[in-house]
Amino acid sequence: MSQEKAVKFVNQLKWKQLVAVVAGVAIAGGVMAFTQDMSREAIAERIQPSMKVRVAGDEPQQQAAASGDRSGEQVYNQACAACHTGGVLGAPRKGVAEDWTERLPQGMAVLLEHSINGFNAMPPRGGCARCTDDEIEAAIEFMIADL
Ligand code: HEC
Repeated sequence: MSQEKAVKFVNQLKWKQLVAVVAGVAIAGGVMAFTQDMSREAIAERIQPSMKVRVAGDEPQQQAAASGDRSGEQVYNQACAACHTGGVLGAPRKGVAEDWTERLPQGMAVLLEHSINGFNAMPPRGGCARCTDDEIEAAIEFMIADL
């Protein structure tokens, strides 16, 4: 009699454990499916092409604008800001008058010549090989506009 009871108890216990395990697997599976979905989204975002091809008829994008079309601000942000915002390697900072007091009297022609051909640690065209002379000049003007 008591043995029978014990067997019943064990059987019940197994059943409960089984239910618990099944529920646990179901929950874990759901969580995994969810996180997998999230990472799939994240991956899709990460593998997006960094440059999108412009098809005929598309609105021209500012970023993809042909050389020569960019404003001083755009060129500055792309090619000059890395050094000229914080004064990296002693670069004269944008909008900081004291950094330019000895440079401005040289005149724009010299500033432009130094920017195009390089000057000490200032790389030719700030490293922007496809920047036109006009774009470089516009970037300089943007840098010194609010002195
Ligand atoms: C890698 C850092 C770096 C980048 C990028 C850079 N510059 Fe410079 N730039 C410098 C440094 C350093 C100097 C100071 C050179 C010196 O006087 O010895 C300088 C100086 C200058 C000067 C003053 C030159 C003179 O005759 O006094 C101008 C103008 C200038 N940069 C324009 C630009 C423009 C425009 C861009 C972007 C198209 C640019 N720079 C990008 C580092 C940089």
